[in-house]
Amino acid sequence: MFSSLGEASTDSILALMRAYREDPRAEKIDLGVGVYRDAAGTTPIMAAVKEAERHLVETQETKSYVGLSGDETFNAAMARLVLGDAVADERVSAVQTPGGSGALRLLSELAATAGDRPILWVSAPTWPNHMAVGARAGLVCRSYRYFDPETHMPDTDAMLADLSEARRGDVVLVHGCCHNPTGADLDAAQWDRLTALVVERGLVPLVDIAYLGFGEGLEADAAGLRRMAAGVPEMLVSVSCSKNFGLYRDRTGVALVISPPHQRGAVQATLETLVRTNWSMPPDHGAAVVRTILADEALVEMWHDELATMRERIVALRTGLAEAMATHTGSDHYSFLKQHRGMFSLLPASAAQVEALRKDHAIYVTGDGRANLAGLLEDRLDRIAEAFTTVGM
Ligand code: LMR
Repeated sequence: MFSSLGEASTDSILALMRAYREDPRAEKIDLGVGVYRDAAGTTPIMAAVKEAERHLVETQETKSYVGLSGDETFNAAMARLVLGDAVADERVSAVQTPGGSGALRLLSELAATAGDRPILWVSAPTWPNHMAVGARAGLVCRSYRYFDPETHMPDTDAMLADLSEARRGDVVLVHGCCHNPTGADLDAAQWDRLTALVVERGLVPLVDIAYLGFGEGLEADAAGLRRMAAGVPEMLVSVSCSKNFGLYRDRTGVALVISPPHQRGAVQATLETLVRTNWSMPPDHGAAVVRTILADEALVEMWHDELATMRERIVALRTGLAEAMATHTGSDHYSFLKQHRGMFSLLPASAAQVEALRKDHAIYVTGDGRANLAGLLEDRLDRIAEAFTTVGM
């Protein structure tokens, strides 16, 4: 049976994680995988999460299955957190998923099931797993231009030109905020232009929002997505709680679908069928934690404060690295770091420079030059800037 299997292609981010782990050098620096680290270099469990877990240990009475769509209270709270009041509840279907990736997989399968062989359009560049998940779900994938390496910001004209080739019913994957890998987000006017094109050409947006709260704040980060949601008849949204609740390994997410109200029943039923044939029932713990936090004013406040601390730390690290680069290069070429949002920035680094960073300086960024700035430590900024300059970046 297995003789036909070739060497499986490894996801580039996971391959980098492994290479970092196996590197014996004590001075190594991990700017690879997207996890937040505090000033001590650890990925902490948030205090609000600990508090909610304590509450669950004391009050939970059963470990029996949750339903196909998961924890309804969690789903409703997440829909409110992401969509605000942009769309009426009667237009929203929701299922709890194992992480944002589970939501992406489910929504890709929904598109493949409901659509007429839709193409999944993803930004160039994007998170490497986007195309892999879409293809595994049976979708043909194409990319649209997104990033202008000269300005380090989105190239909206190129994006809209490419997407004007999309056919009615095609799915357009858009990053809700904190674009992965570039860090370059759409502004309100750019969201509006994209929304107008989506409506004009009858496209279906799939907004992936995995870093809500890491850019400018919960409300500001959801604003573009909400503008779009209010203006389109149909939309898919994959949401992750991995980063903003720090629940990485608890695999907590939600898939939301906006449809006309009369189609909501069919959408919800199809989502549940897809759940049943994928993981049957979702895991409970992470969603129970989030539900507990979002239902308690004091815990919400604690969570908001912790999220703000993480966000402000990343902003300060961005400023610190931009300043260190200004000192080392004598230019403001790296001021784009301060314009970018979220954990990542795409650095102007060639494959050879990325390799030199790893080999000669023990600094790990992904092959395309993505750096996880949330993995930086203040006292290493100068060393990193020196290494960037030494390899010619
Ligand atoms: C990343 O982009 O580094 C994260 O989303 C982690 C992952 O699973 O790739």
